Amino acid sequence: MQIISDIPLLREQRREWQAGAKVIAFVPTMGNLHQGHLNLVREAKKHADIIVVSIFVNPMQFGPDEDLDAYPRTLQDDAKLLEDLGVSVLFVPKVSDIYARGLEQQTFVEVPGISYMICGASRPGHFRGVATIVCKLLNMVQPNLAFFGEKDFQQLQVIKAMVADLSMNLQVIGVTTTRESDGLAMSSRNQYLNPQQRATAPFLYAQLIDIADAIEQGRRDFSVLVAKCKAELVEQGFSPDYIEIRNAYSLLPPGHEDTSLVILAAAFMGKTRLIDNIQIQL
Ligand code: PAF
Repeated sequence: MQIISDIPLLREQRREWQAGAKVIAFVPTMGNLHQGHLNLVREAKKHADIIVVSIFVNPMQFGPDEDLDAYPRTLQDDAKLLEDLGVSVLFVPKVSDIYARGLEQQTFVEVPGISYMICGASRPGHFRGVATIVCKLLNMVQPNLAFFGEKDFQQLQVIKAMVADLSMNLQVIGVTTTRESDGLAMSSRNQYLNPQQRATAPFLYAQLIDIADAIEQGRRDFSVLVAKCKAELVEQGFSPDYIEIRNAYSLLPPGHEDTSLVILAAAFMGKTRLIDNIQIQL
């Protein structure tokens, strides 16, 4: 596995692969890899000859009071895991190369509408940061396929919308959330939880399953289901940020005729913000 931080060097390598008509898959990450990330790579390997993984903790997608400085950076361990999986290139660009003119001057990509609701309402500017960095990385790697986890469901929809709107020539593939044996969605932020918080954290997903079961059994009183869920989360020690039942494509509140739904949740356990979701096909 080559570790490349120089953008021109990555482009040179890209040209060689193109000459060999290789199918290139890309898995962008912020590092501190867990089985969820590794499953993205495993999925990518089923579809491509060359796998490029990036590790870049993107300052543009963190709010002023968020955990940018504390975000775990574990490059050596990550590189070992990726090498063992047969990744071709680990791309680790520098902040000074990615945002060469500084963040204030940076041209940005914003997908209106979908970026402002739900997580976007709680984290203003977050999806602008995500869309901008993903667009830049896609321009550098120029993959045929790019893989993203469904755990960040809204992020996946934002990226799909950006790729379609900007007529980018690649396929975006969402990969099922990888869970711990007790149901907790894998996330780099789970390590911030103390043992007691960790023991309670799977309750969030259990609540989403309860709502999904109720809807599948015909319940349509969404606001009642959401209110009950929030109350039960509070009782367990969570501070819910949002619980939303939405159309799985537009992420708008669903109409009666909608059959593809997603239940999205974010809740704080102490200072750690956990997110999760579950899709329902009626
Ligand atoms: O999901 C993530 O890890 C990040 O948001 C991403 C897509 C790598 C962009 O920084």
